[in-house]
Amino acid sequence: MNQPETLATLAASVGAPSYVHHARLLGWVREIAALTQPERIVWCDGSEAESERLCALMVASGTLTKLSESKRPGSYLALSDPSDVARVEDRTFICSKCEDDAGPTNNWVAPSAMRRTLDGLFTGSMRGRTMYVVPFAMGPIGSPIAHIGIEISDSPYVVVNMRLMTRMGRAVYDALGSDGAFVPCVHSVGAPLVDGQRDVAWPSNAEQKYIVHFPETREIWSYGSGYGGNALLGKKCFALRIASVMGRDQGWLAEHMLILGVTSPQGEKSYVAGAFPSACGKTNLSMLIPPPGCEGWKVTTIGDDIAWIKPGTDGYLHAINPEAGYFGVAPGTSYETNANAMEMLKHDVIFTNVALTDDGDVWWEGMTHEPPAHLVDWQGQDWTPGCGRKAAHPNARFTVSSRQCPSLDPAWDDPAGVPISAFVFGARRSDTVPLVSEARTWEEGVYKAATMGSETTAAATGAVGEVRRDPFAMLPFCGYHVGDYFRHWLAMGKAVAHPPRLFSVNWFRKDAKGRFVWPGFGENMRVLQWIVERCRGRAQAGETAVGLAPAYADLDWTGADFDADRFAAVMNVDRASWERELALHDELFAKIGAKLPPELKIEREALGQRLQR
Ligand code: OXD
Ligand code: MN
Repeated sequence: MNQPETLATLAASVGAPSYVHHARLLGWVREIAALTQPERIVWCDGSEAESERLCALMVASGTLTKLSESKRPGSYLALSDPSDVARVEDRTFICSKCEDDAGPTNNWVAPSAMRRTLDGLFTGSMRGRTMYVVPFAMGPIGSPIAHIGIEISDSPYVVVNMRLMTRMGRAVYDALGSDGAFVPCVHSVGAPLVDGQRDVAWPSNAEQKYIVHFPETREIWSYGSGYGGNALLGKKCFALRIASVMGRDQGWLAEHMLILGVTSPQGEKSYVAGAFPSACGKTNLSMLIPPPGCEGWKVTTIGDDIAWIKPGTDGYLHAINPEAGYFGVAPGTSYETNANAMEMLKHDVIFTNVALTDDGDVWWEGMTHEPPAHLVDWQGQDWTPGCGRKAAHPNARFTVSSRQCPSLDPAWDDPAGVPISAFVFGARRSDTVPLVSEARTWEEGVYKAATMGSETTAAATGAVGEVRRDPFAMLPFCGYHVGDYFRHWLAMGKAVAHPPRLFSVNWFRKDAKGRFVWPGFGENMRVLQWIVERCRGRAQAGETAVGLAPAYADLDWTGADFDADRFAAVMNVDRASWERELALHDELFAKIGAKLPPELKIEREALGQRLQR
């Protein structure tokens, strides 16, 4: 009779280090190795030495270019394959057992059929490559709000990015012990090296991409892409799609939200979480520097993209940023738009798809008023001003550790999270939606967030600039039926004694000539001030059809050059535009069907009636 396998022999069979004691994890790694057939397995420890070794390896293979040590110390540039530049929403799947659990906003394939497809794709997919085992925590290790994942990947670029974006390394195995829960994440670029085939600088699979989630078993499988959210599986796949399902089942929220602290001149601190679609300035807002006239105010950063929010024992919703770094959009970032980010990016950064200067530094559109006279663009070609091409890809990114953020909030790593006073929902709309309004009730706020529409950006492949409904900025990220998600949000308002107040904002209104009316960036402080003062019961607001709104005099304009007429233009609620908007809400609700909560139908009727008055 066969003896049961000991932990030691299991660990030895996959070359695991002695500090990994988790039999299920070891068995899973062995299973994935047998399927993908890598040349070798490397267990990552998250150390600086390991990252340096991998970066050197990628410089040698052409994946990374080392930037000038005097201009940008410790930093690298990666240029991706032109077919692999953004998240692929049409190749992203939620494979719940029941199609109805994925809902109308997700691509669904039956789990058994998808497993057959994945089996075919992953068989031998890592041949000739190294398989890395990456242990990571989403959130401070030991926090009751945090969770653990293990990513298996054949991309060293993924490993060094995951080290910046998550709490990665050996401490995760200590937290897991011999039987702790983890989310298994399998990633392959889908480019096996067979018969001595030479590698390319950015391996990926131009024909086949699959970003797959099994919500019931909490598994992630990603094939064919090495870029961003397709490949750094802690981010959109785990922290939003899988975590949103965990939140539904366990009574918490996983949201596409920044988290910031606002300190008043009197030293009172409030925390605000804000949901905005991709590339709508979440990083800029989370690092805002108050403009002249608002000097006594301060904004501090907890996170720029994702919030995990659980009811605290004090009756407030508490939020953590599950990430430990920023994967931000580079184009448009400058000392004028986000000086904190520019300071943060001075060293130890991985840039992807920005342009290279002749002196070994980086450049992107919007970084300076005057572009350099010559660059190598994101496709590796010579670039000169006026050549008619963008130097950086519009979805070019920087990856950097949170610790380098000058505005980092002292509580960013607090296991208890921070109590949230306000949720802010913002979209990119050149018309219709006013600069700011507050919901009268939780239900009205949920309705406004649920029906949010936004002009699309380059963060996902597809048409840019079209208005699409993006409920809670979660359209590409909600791992289950969006009608159930709305129901969950309605319930969460009753789960705590002190739910946050709900606000809607729009920084992007344009005039008849297509120019932005609101200056945005630092000036958004004036809106944030009003929001936190509302939460403290101090600022004034008046009734409008779409919520409670400030009059010009209700905002602090000290040092500003923004008159009452322009304020009226960004606050205007135009009845005809809203009639068109309501028809689009109806379209969304019809798509959601039977799972649409009745509370939202009531809100829809009430809004229609208010607009008639
Ligand atoms: C992101 C996105 O990368 O939302 O944060 O696309
Ligand atoms: Mn995002």
